[in-house]
Amino acid sequence: MNVTFTQKDKNSILEDIKSLKETVWINENYSKFKDVKKDLPLSYEDVLEAEKRLTRFQPFIKRAFPETKDGVIESPIMKIDNMKERMEKDFGKEIKGTLLLKRDDLLPIAGSIKARGGIYEVLKHAETLAINNNLLSIDDDYSVLAEDKFKEFFSNYTIQVGSTGNLGLSIGIISAKLGFKVKVHMSQDAKKWKKDLLRSKGVEVVEYTSDYSKAVEEGRKESENDPNSYFVDDENSKNLFLGYAVGGIRLKKQLDNMGIVVDKAHPLFVYLPCGVGGGPGGITYGLKLVYEDNVHCLFAEPTHSPAMLLGLITGLHDKVSVEDFGLDNKTDADGLAVGRPSSFVGKMMERLLMGIYTIDDSRLYKFLKALYEEEDIFLEPSALAGFLGPILFANEDNATHICWATGGSLVPEYVRKEYLKRV
Ligand SMILES: Cc1ncc(COP(=O)(O)O)c(C=O)c1O
Repeated sequence: MNVTFTQKDKNSILEDIKSLKETVWINENYSKFKDVKKDLPLSYEDVLEAEKRLTRFQPFIKRAFPETKDGVIESPIMKIDNMKERMEKDFGKEIKGTLLLKRDDLLPIAGSIKARGGIYEVLKHAETLAINNNLLSIDDDYSVLAEDKFKEFFSNYTIQVGSTGNLGLSIGIISAKLGFKVKVHMSQDAKKWKKDLLRSKGVEVVEYTSDYSKAVEEGRKESENDPNSYFVDDENSKNLFLGYAVGGIRLKKQLDNMGIVVDKAHPLFVYLPCGVGGGPGGITYGLKLVYEDNVHCLFAEPTHSPAMLLGLITGLHDKVSVEDFGLDNKTDADGLAVGRPSSFVGKMMERLLMGIYTIDDSRLYKFLKALYEEEDIFLEPSALAGFLGPILFANEDNATHICWATGGSLVPEYVRKEYLKRV
């Protein structure tokens, strides 16, 4: 498995994209954080407010989802030395520095990075409705929200979302628990087990034979026709973004507890699988708030669905799609099967993101199997896209590299077996 990385000009990268060749783009507009932050539409205060809201909801989450224990939706981070050694062997290249895995596959309730943004947005909507109807005040103990009185109240309202799968799972599970009616519009890429799981929770699943953008469009349209319906807009939502950003700012405490220093002499590199962009974009923003120029984030996209890469490299954001470049947007990484990026996130990332690389589906399965064999960790294919990052960028002894594992704990056993047989 040989990977070579030379910095290429835009045209060569576009040629790679069109011919489905893995490629690496280093953002020529990557800037100092202090020069960027004043122009951004969100602030540190917005992220801190989101974190405070999640703290207010802790007693509710603890009661409604005892598996969270303390009502905090957070994931562990760990060293993966065996996997590091295996990757060095498989690629014939030393991975310098420390390699860590952020385990969003273990996030409680929804088992993916989507548990951060999706759950946050539904909680915020529920809080707003309850406060506006004089049923709740922000000083109350929010565990009351698990009572039948609130379920009855929320049953007058609908929540809708378009999804490739995991956002639907997170929105569906939390909304159903609160008592909302929920309708999830699923693209053709969504895996059957994700639809089955949602239906088992009482969620209405609408299936489309088209891709993610169409599912979002239809969901948005249908929701607009119902005054009691709220649409979680994966392409444009600031609330989703803030929910993810909380994950970014929380990471510092975890690294501090591990004794991992991040400063100018000890940079941090973070590799994030990217679909429409909200998840990785929000995490990047949160990390930039706490580590500024000492953290460097890179997105990873499938060679068949490099939507954010095309949006940023052309500067056209949601005015360009992978289909415009002759690509089919077909990938086994269902969470990343997005043909058109979020322009809201793309614009936020224009000067914050260090770069993007693409990865072939076959590599995702190789990483999936290797991680299972070496660390006994099972991830879903989308969640492995980060693993190529350290191969490309881990060239310094003093750096720390984090692969963001974005999902996998809910994958049923029969699907796991099938994935493990792919290589
Ligand atoms: C497992 C997984 N990883 C990464 C992503 C990418 O998140 P986003 O679409 O917000 O970029 C998704 C999206 O559904 C996902 O399910």
